[in-house]
Amino acid sequence: MKIAKNVNKLGTEAVYSIFAKTKKLQKQGKKIIDLSLGQSDFKSPQHAVNAAIKALKDGHHGYTLPNGIIECREAVSRKIKSLYKAHIDPERIIIMPGGKPTMYYAISFFGEPGAEILYPDPGFPIYESMINFTGAKAVPYNMTENKDFSINPDKILSLINEKTRLLILNNPHNPTGGFTEKKAIDKLANSLKKFPHLAVLSDEVYDRLIFGNKEIPTLLNYPDLYDRLIILNGWSKTYAMTGWRLGWSVWPEKLIEHVFKFCVNSHSCVNTPAQYGAIAALDGPENHLEDMMKEFFIRRKLICDGLQSLKGVQCNMPGGSFFAFPNVKNTGMNGEEFTEKSLKEAGVAMIPGAAFGKFATDYVRFNFATSRENISKAIEKIDKILK
Ligand SMILES: Cc1ncc(COP(=O)(O)O)c(C=O)c1O
Repeated sequence: MKIAKNVNKLGTEAVYSIFAKTKKLQKQGKKIIDLSLGQSDFKSPQHAVNAAIKALKDGHHGYTLPNGIIECREAVSRKIKSLYKAHIDPERIIIMPGGKPTMYYAISFFGEPGAEILYPDPGFPIYESMINFTGAKAVPYNMTENKDFSINPDKILSLINEKTRLLILNNPHNPTGGFTEKKAIDKLANSLKKFPHLAVLSDEVYDRLIFGNKEIPTLLNYPDLYDRLIILNGWSKTYAMTGWRLGWSVWPEKLIEHVFKFCVNSHSCVNTPAQYGAIAALDGPENHLEDMMKEFFIRRKLICDGLQSLKGVQCNMPGGSFFAFPNVKNTGMNGEEFTEKSLKEAGVAMIPGAAFGKFATDYVRFNFATSRENISKAIEKIDKILK
């Protein structure tokens, strides 16, 4: 058997190996506080659950069009209009089985040997994995702690050349929780006019998880970019619907027929009853999200104060998402050693920064979308092993 050599270039998400280790320890009877996975502990909104059940009962169990049912695409278009005041034709919207396929397809469109793709480091690991898979050169731009892990337009602009085909942005940012305000995004978007050959993939999957009533700095605010802009978003984080596998994406008109073919060639269509649940989530009341954000606000302070109190640990307050990304260098350990020790000796699971790129080896990522009790206990337990 001979497999294609590009398969060996695929990376992975360390979160799944930590998940497996955690499950193994739990099976052995060890109590583990799991702060590793990137998902909320809130339940999906009841009105979304009810709508999906009703859809099944009503007989919506067959295939749908690969780009999604029109009602769902219209619901996304309505939401975009109400949230961002932008008009997006539902024909440019594609419903996906999660946020990830948008990443996969967008990078596949632009990546090939000789091409360069810019991506954040630290960053969501699948960007680099997929760029490598296509044979393109993965060019990282560093997100730094001293800038609160925000996007630095000048740094990005300095890395663009004639071979750069795609720029990947992620705001708010996983794993750091960094948030870049609209002013910096305005600067970047305006400067991109000088590089008309460059496409942009804006991963905005955490855009509703921003602290402090700040304006959502979506790239949809820049119609000048619409003919080369891809938006990745979805239901996973905003509505605590990770396991439903539901995402929405916006594409330039001239790419739509190709994305459609990608869908036909891979997943055919998104789970049909889930699409009805998705409409209900978008059109329904927002108190679920408001309650979740109120709670995350409290937990954010709890975890950051707790981490900051640990010997040798330095933690910035994240501006968005549900991640804290402390620097553990002064504990005398790197992120991987810290993660290993915490799991084995304190029974607390987290992700080492190295899983998110080469610039993040001194960091670890905590998910604080878990109970206050879990957060306090985790800090207490780590405190003990650092003494
Ligand atoms: C930055 C970022 N983009 C995309 C995704 C993928 O989301 P989904 O689970 O909807 O595929 C994630 C998931 O953790 C993420 O953190």
